[in-house]
Amino acid sequence: MAMLKSSLALLVLAFAFFFCYVMSSGSYDYFQFVQQWPPTNCRVRTKCSNPRPLQYFTIHGLWPSNYSNPKMPSNCIGSQFNESKVYPRLRSKLRISWPDVESGNDTKFWGDEWNKHGTCSQRILNQFQYFERSQQMWRSYNITNILKKAQIVPNATQTWSYSDIVSPIKTATNRTPLLRCKSQPKSQANFQLLHEVVLCFDYNALVHIDCNRTAGCWNNVDIKFQ
Ligand SMILES: *[C@@H]1O[C@H](CO)[C@@H](O)[C@H](O)[C@H]1NC(C)=O
Ligand SMILES: *[C@@H]1O[C@H](CO)[C@@H](O)[C@H](O)[C@H]1NC(C)=O
Ligand SMILES: *[C@@H]1O[C@H](CO)[C@@H](O)[C@H](O)[C@H]1NC(C)=O
Ligand SMILES: *[C@@H]1O[C@H](CO)[C@@H](O)[C@H](O)[C@H]1NC(C)=O
Ligand SMILES: *[C@@H]1O[C@H](CO)[C@@H](O)[C@H](O)[C@H]1NC(C)=O
Ligand SMILES: *[C@@H]1O[C@H](CO)[C@@H](O)[C@H](O)[C@H]1NC(C)=O
Repeated sequence: MAMLKSSLALLVLAFAFFFCYVMSSGSYDYFQFVQQWPPTNCRVRTKCSNPRPLQYFTIHGLWPSNYSNPKMPSNCIGSQFNESKVYPRLRSKLRISWPDVESGNDTKFWGDEWNKHGTCSQRILNQFQYFERSQQMWRSYNITNILKKAQIVPNATQTWSYSDIVSPIKTATNRTPLLRCKSQPKSQANFQLLHEVVLCFDYNALVHIDCNRTAGCWNNVDIKFQ
């Protein structure tokens, strides 16, 4: 009897551990591939080490995401970032596509993104594949170029609506993206700054799909791109 009880206890314990493992090893529905406009980082977030921020969209991250819980998953159990796995050929590409525009420490930025997000999808993409896939996405979806072709270029005075900016991206890629904005300090709250463009991908990070979340910018507030 005692024997039975303890093996039952063991079973319950094992199940509990399994459950915790599954939760923290990351389950997700889809990926968000996030590109950012560096001048906006430098204007509202922090002082950037480089006084003239890059004038093209760079990678912020590739985030396994949950439809019902936008902040999840993150910081999953798994192998932490290993710098030696960013092999030289890929590294030189990432320095251009995925720089740390704020502190200038690219490797630290890659490590932070891998540890927070990449660990949650490592059953699908190992560390090398995670960075390589992101690099391919960046090359395939040149937001800077798509906007430029639609005459949406940095301008200190001009304003756009959300759909002015979304439309050309939707036309060029055949899928709905998501925009994310930063509000200006309160004194200038009559406009917001375009900060990020999100493209969504399926569970395997292979098929480009529509993004269906909408809460990235304020409704009915003009957007500046500068
Ligand atoms: C998404 O998050 C919700 C709430 O935390 C959770 O119940 C659900 O299992 C998650 N979905 C996936 C696919 O992980
Ligand atoms: C990091 O990756 C390299 C190259 O694959 C490997 O030799 C090394 O053991 C790894 N380090 C850790 C701490 O896993
Ligand atoms: C960049 O960040 C890494 C990890 O935090 C750190 O080990 C390294 O010293 C930093 N490099 C520079 C140049 O600050
Ligand atoms: C993206 O488009 C911009 C603007 O047309 C261009 O200058 C840049 O070289 C392109 N980047 C890549 C990786 O093709
Ligand atoms: C900025 O936009 C305004 C209003 O559309 C336009 O008149 C002006 O020529 C633009 N400036 C530049 C530098 O393109
Ligand atoms: C977004 O689409 C997915 C898949 O079609 C669906 O499960 C989810 O409920 C949708 N979320 C919202 C907020 O519409």
